[in-house]
Amino acid sequence: MHPMLNVAVKAARRAANIIQRGSHNLDALRVDKKKPNDFVSDMDRASEEAIIETILDAYPKHAILAEESGAKGIGESEYEWIIDPIDGTTNFIHGHPQYAISIAMAHKGLIQQAVVYDPSRNDLFTASRGVGSFMNDRRIRVGKRVSLLECVIGTGFPVTDQSYLDTYLGMLKDVITRTAGVRREGAASLDLCNVACGRTDGFWEFNLKPWDIAAGSLIIQEAGGIVTDFQGEQEWLESGNIVAASPKVLAQLLQILAPHLA
Ligand code: IPD
Ligand code: CA
Ligand code: CA
Repeated sequence: MHPMLNVAVKAARRAANIIQRGSHNLDALRVDKKKPNDFVSDMDRASEEAIIETILDAYPKHAILAEESGAKGIGESEYEWIIDPIDGTTNFIHGHPQYAISIAMAHKGLIQQAVVYDPSRNDLFTASRGVGSFMNDRRIRVGKRVSLLECVIGTGFPVTDQSYLDTYLGMLKDVITRTAGVRREGAASLDLCNVACGRTDGFWEFNLKPWDIAAGSLIIQEAGGIVTDFQGEQEWLESGNIVAASPKVLAQLLQILAPHLA
């Protein structure tokens, strides 16, 4: 295992110990609202602190972009770690076991190492660029389905910025009617890993942040899938608008979404 991936796994497991202990006493959890439908708890902050400490212990000069504490040292190092301490906070604070820790390492802007850890199922997804994607040390690949009518597609609803809700609902209607089903599970990093291991056949969502998608995207790519924005281009990390699937499903999914874009 690449030494930086090893550090990312160590950080994710340390964070998971903290948040799983917290998950047993949700009534004592302090939850603040950052904006409508966007929550942060004590556990998000404690998880993030443990992750950053583990990374900086090993690589004190590396830059950090983390959801709750923001950016540190960006532009001063070629190495940047992108961290979501709990992806799926709304699920977590409800005791709904669909959330994950997401950690990616980018070198000169290109994501090289990725970890998404689902502590409720003990599923550890990892990827290193050029090496492949793994779930609990077993190689994973995207699904083999090609007929959209047999495909299950993941998505996320627009909950914080609802200005494009009507556009989204038009897309959702078309995807529902032309596939075997749609899933909205509430943790984008795991939604991407589900595509990577074939539990779903594709995924789309608007307006995600780098920490939601940096790790999961490399895990899909190294599992043989493709990640694009809604135009089929590579601006997904900047725009946060993401479509991901196996190559054959991706083309069909983009075709369904395209007529809804202004
Ligand atoms: C959220 C989850 C969710 C997605 C939201 C994200 P958070 O992340 O990934 O699936 O629909 O847009 O903000 O806030 O729980 O880290
Ligand atoms: Ca997130
Ligand atoms: Ca989060």
